[in-house]
Amino acid sequence: MGELDKRVTIVTGAGRGIGFGIAKHLAAAGAIIIIAELNAETGASAAEQLRSNGYEATFVDTDVTDPESVQRLVDGVVERYGRIDILVNNAGAAEVGRTESMPVQDWYDQIDVMCNGVFLCLRAAGAVMIRQGAGVILNISSIAGLGAWPLRSAYDAAKAAVISLTENVGCEWARKGVRVVSVAPGVTRTNMLQQMVDDKVADLAQYEDRAPMGRVAEVEEIASAVQFLVSDRAKYITATTVSVDGGWTAWGNLPL
Ligand SMILES: NC(=O)c1ccc[n+]([C@@H]2O[C@H](COP(=O)([O-])OP(=O)(O)OC[C@H]3O[C@@H](n4cnc5c(N)ncnc54)[C@H](O)[C@@H]3O)[C@@H](O)[C@H]2O)c1
Repeated sequence: MGELDKRVTIVTGAGRGIGFGIAKHLAAAGAIIIIAELNAETGASAAEQLRSNGYEATFVDTDVTDPESVQRLVDGVVERYGRIDILVNNAGAAEVGRTESMPVQDWYDQIDVMCNGVFLCLRAAGAVMIRQGAGVILNISSIAGLGAWPLRSAYDAAKAAVISLTENVGCEWARKGVRVVSVAPGVTRTNMLQQMVDDKVADLAQYEDRAPMGRVAEVEEIASAVQFLVSDRAKYITATTVSVDGGWTAWGNLPL
């Protein structure tokens, strides 16, 4: 029996990457996992992997940008389990490019997944948590939401909005028993990062050099911070963002 024993937990975008790492980590702590993922193939296989490790996990085909899809997810979880204890808003999609030539649709798409999607899931699951008088919402933001990362204007804007939303709603719901927190990961070794390296819009060696610890984060290191923040050990933490970035945000980038 772990510290999250039987806590009903939705993780969005958990078909792979950080989301899957979080799902695995929370499952190992006893949580019941609902993988809310747009990609049916990776979503179903992620849930299957968790079940084959002896954990309780299901996949729900979900598009976080679609209010009806999000409401179906939340209603289905409540119907099946009677409650929602934890929501991790993790789904994301990043594009890199110059702002002056950015296709307008790229702006809309990124804001849609990483800002509107966070709002839609938080709103729907939050209503359930307020009725329960308890719950935790953890939003994955980014170091990109804490400071400018050129060529990622839409991504930065969406992540800064997540940090602001966390503060705002965390205060709004603080007396209702619902905590809202955010984790801002530094550059993390995932498929998203690998894709950018393959597309030559990211340079891993440059990131490692920029990181005070001389390396990027591993998914497990993000997931372990998430586990702490959604657990009762963090019960006085709300309306704030915790950077898990190995010092990236603090470092002014002067030579060591
Ligand atoms: N990898 C990094 O370096 C890094 C750093 C900081 C923050 N983050 C954030 O962490 C989160 C996960 O990143 P990752 O690197 O694991 O990315 P990833 O691309 O590996 O995974 C993102 C997942 O979200 C899913 N998704 C996309 N749109 C969706 C939608 N509309 N509805 C439901 N699911 C959807 C994708 O199918 C995918 O499975 C993102 O929010 C990302 O911005 C990543």
